[in-house]
Amino acid sequence: MNVRSSSDDVLSRTSAIICELQGLEGPLLPILHAVQDTFGYVPEQAKPLIAQALNLSRAEVHGVVSFYHDFRSHTAGRHVLKLCRAEACQSMGGDALAERVKSLLGIDFHETTPDGAVTLEPVFCLGLCACAPSAMLDGELHGRLDEDCLGELVAEARR
Ligand code: FES
Repeated sequence: MNVRSSSDDVLSRTSAIICELQGLEGPLLPILHAVQDTFGYVPEQAKPLIAQALNLSRAEVHGVVSFYHDFRSHTAGRHVLKLCRAEACQSMGGDALAERVKSLLGIDFHETTPDGAVTLEPVFCLGLCACAPSAMLDGELHGRLDEDCLGELVAEARR
């Protein structure tokens, strides 16, 4: 796919999403979620289109995208591993697990392995505090992690 067709694709698919969702009350967040579900991130080219359709400025759309951590500005790896960094998980060894996962993957939080396999992200409570420390791999929750379980998760994500 060349850059031009990729850009056309973003514009046409974003327009279809806008058409479908702009009648909602408070349509900006649902539109942004749908755009991210479609492309894996919120492309820059989509923002002016959304701004125009919702009668907002580009800065307002950009501000909302950058405020909410769930919205990405770049594609993630094939797998996304989120490790909980909030209090209950910290009290159960979360800091050591964080260091372990960073060294296993060779990357820091908010980074993707060079082979594009795994993006590592912090998350601040998964509602699994009673089973701390916890993580989420591609939307699937994992609790009571220790270094061995975490190693297995990382190995699974790298396959
Ligand atoms: S603090 Fe980690 S799941 Fe709640």
